Amino acid sequence: TTVALVLAGGIGSRLYPASRADRPKQFLPIGGEESLLARTVERADFADEVVVATRPRFADEIGDHAPGADVLVEPDGKDTGPALTYATHRLREAYGDDAVIVALPSDHYVGDDDAFRGTMAAGARVARETDRLVTFGVAPERPETGYGYIEPGTARTAAGDDFHEVGAFHEKPDAETAREYVEAGYRWNSGMFAWTPAAFLDAAAESPLGPLVEALDAGDPAAGFDAVDPVSVDYAVLERADEVAVVDAAFAWDDLGSWDALDRVLEPDGDGNVTAGDHLTIDAADNVVVSDDKHVSLVGVSGLAVVAYDDRVLVVPKGEAQRVRELVSLLSEEG
Ligand code: GDD
Ligand code: MG
Repeated sequence: TTVALVLAGGIGSRLYPASRADRPKQFLPIGGEESLLARTVERADFADEVVVATRPRFADEIGDHAPGADVLVEPDGKDTGPALTYATHRLREAYGDDAVIVALPSDHYVGDDDAFRGTMAAGARVARETDRLVTFGVAPERPETGYGYIEPGTARTAAGDDFHEVGAFHEKPDAETAREYVEAGYRWNSGMFAWTPAAFLDAAAESPLGPLVEALDAGDPAAGFDAVDPVSVDYAVLERADEVAVVDAAFAWDDLGSWDALDRVLEPDGDGNVTAGDHLTIDAADNVVVSDDKHVSLVGVSGLAVVAYDDRVLVVPKGEAQRVRELVSLLSEEG
């Protein structure tokens, strides 16, 4: 059985003011009509089963985006490390040791759903054949510091599917190191994974998530979550694991991590403006203009992201869009 495990418990906030604490990125209809989560669930139909995993706070909202989907609620929101350990343990109980789990973040842009399905099916086969932790690699286009990087090792084939052994996995390097990785031909980690329950739980047992695996084996998930700190699966497991594989993604992909990302996924108008929502521009070029029900006008400015949602307005040069992170932490300090 191949089980698609859609991760929908994150609180990503760099798309402020569209994303807010109670309205994370995966619930937004960025670059389309439906939410990112709804589109993720739709393209997960390469799998035999689809399960959506989330933290308690968002449990009631999943049904709005994925009607009828199986929802798995972890005891506490502690990032993807504990979430994936809990879900993998539960899915082994439900589907047995022969299952292959394909973990899918729900906050990404994917350019070609059919190519996506093909790559995921190939990754699931590699996970089943090799018992490796399979990552999906994307050829980097810039020294992005918000991604993990994968150093490809020996090229191999498993039952007809190509993959590389992974020499090393580095989560979120600084800018200088990211530049070196891009030059050295490393891949971006797309944040999607495929593994058998045993391959993942063995690796997790040897990681800082070990106490959680033990508690899950003993039937006490709540105690297990209390025993570990929040940590992403990348830092906790992938950076340490020996038997990792990378399958190259055959589709355009973007994490949509900040407003300037819309440039890469939406068609610009004649002046290079990328827009979503009611707007008017005069002598304005290369801007990102996004709003909910507001009419936004730009006159004589260029290179800006202008975003109006609810009772909030954000204006930032596109080149500094990552700094919304600073803004969001300042706002949350002020409450
Ligand atoms: N169920 C659950 N519980 N899901 C969660 C939780 C949680 O506690 N925390 C995050 N998620 C979900 C998010 O909603 C998202 O769909 C996915 O897990 C990934 O989490 P992010 O927080 O968005 O991770 P990231 O983008 O910083 O980094 C990961 O993805 C990058 C590519 O987008 C890493 O895997 C990087 O290595 C990778 O390059
Ligand atoms: Mg992300």
